[in-house]
Amino acid sequence: MALWGGRFKEQASVQFKKFNDSLPVDYRMAVQDIVGSIAWAEALTTVDVLSQAEFQELKAALLELKASVEENPKQILASDAEDIHSWVEINLIEKTGDLGKKLHTGRSRNDQVATDLKLWCKEKGSDLLYALVNLQQAMLDLAERERNTVLPGYTHLQRAQPITFGHWCLAYVEMFNRDIGRLKDALYRADTSPLGSGALAGTAYPIDRELLAHNLGFRSATLNSLDAVSDRDHVIELLSTASISMMHLSRFAEDLVFYNSGEAGFVEMSDLVSSGSSLMPQKKNPDACELLRGKAGRVMGSLTGMMMTMKALPLAYNKDMQEDKEGLFDALDTWQECMQMAVLVAEGLTVNRARTLAAAQQGYANSTELADYLVSKDIPFREAHHIVGEVVLAAIDAGHALEDFTIAQLQKFSDRIEQDVYQHLSIESCLDKRGALGGTSRQQVEKALAEVQSGNLLS
Ligand code: ARG
Repeated sequence: MALWGGRFKEQASVQFKKFNDSLPVDYRMAVQDIVGSIAWAEALTTVDVLSQAEFQELKAALLELKASVEENPKQILASDAEDIHSWVEINLIEKTGDLGKKLHTGRSRNDQVATDLKLWCKEKGSDLLYALVNLQQAMLDLAERERNTVLPGYTHLQRAQPITFGHWCLAYVEMFNRDIGRLKDALYRADTSPLGSGALAGTAYPIDRELLAHNLGFRSATLNSLDAVSDRDHVIELLSTASISMMHLSRFAEDLVFYNSGEAGFVEMSDLVSSGSSLMPQKKNPDACELLRGKAGRVMGSLTGMMMTMKALPLAYNKDMQEDKEGLFDALDTWQECMQMAVLVAEGLTVNRARTLAAAQQGYANSTELADYLVSKDIPFREAHHIVGEVVLAAIDAGHALEDFTIAQLQKFSDRIEQDVYQHLSIESCLDKRGALGGTSRQQVEKALAEVQSGNLLS
């Protein structure tokens, strides 16, 4: 049964019905639709469309329906109702007869779907926040565990300067922190209620929309009915928050795929998140990380898709907008699952501290130190840079590290070099010198850890 039909002479084709129906996707908003319907029924009571007794009867029937869908949401899929709004109304009419037919007074599926989706976003938003905070905590735990582990830092995938593994972890803590801020910000703006905007022009019943909004747990009511029914910014903002966060997860995954490679051998992923090859018995592949990286593309695709759907849509509601939910649901589910998987990856990571240290010692990652040393001996930096370049070239030729040159050999490059140069070239000295705010020195890493632990960083 459709909620319309009086104006039609013929039934819609089966093919069109399947094309048009959104129940297989929007059944996930059943609880939100019911909660919104109870609030709407209450609002109708305040304007005398429904009596108190009628409201109580509708409310009881709707609560019964809510309990039933909470227990078994998939039961909805057996119906051939057009969408979740129709499904709820049809079931309500089944339970309450003609009384149920009064519920849609002054309401449109346009303000209804906008309200339901915002309620759904708010609920999903708190699960996502929880997942983000958990992920951040996992990176913090790893940072604590590996705070003293030396790791080569890279630019252009070339060894650049030594850092600590803890510093690397804390970089992701920062990224996830910005994600938390972005999510909270998106949820704040989503927190206004479209209900009572009607199809586009507002409702003809003198309903206190602000009270209605508060009853539904919204911060306030939307202020323009045209905008309220056609606004999907919250969908786009959530997709964009998810995309940015997936970009972070993808970089995290890519770093680990590289660290885990046979060539680097810096980390080993836990068996719990790795898989093997059907042919090559020796293989242990970092599939969890590769999927984190791969799924980022899918989430970003949903964002792009939604932007394309919304661009150039005339005000107000258009059926194009029904396309909003499939991509949103999929992207937010994917993001949530990826965050949970990243926690498993981080928790199960074994760091090969000897290999990370050895790699940091190779690759001339202490060259900047030698240049800084020469600067301390009154050589201008640009000249020092050139001298050290020559030392590096000679060291490559000789096949050893900078500190393997004798003092006499080093003095051929500059007579300012003295015996104390060796202590400047040590990894410890490279690290400890980076002591300004945000640097990789042990003291700064400890400070950053303490900051996050005390909740200062958490936005
Ligand atoms: N299923 C629709 C959607 O998700 C609900 C709104 C339908 N409104 C309408 N006037 N056809 O967008």
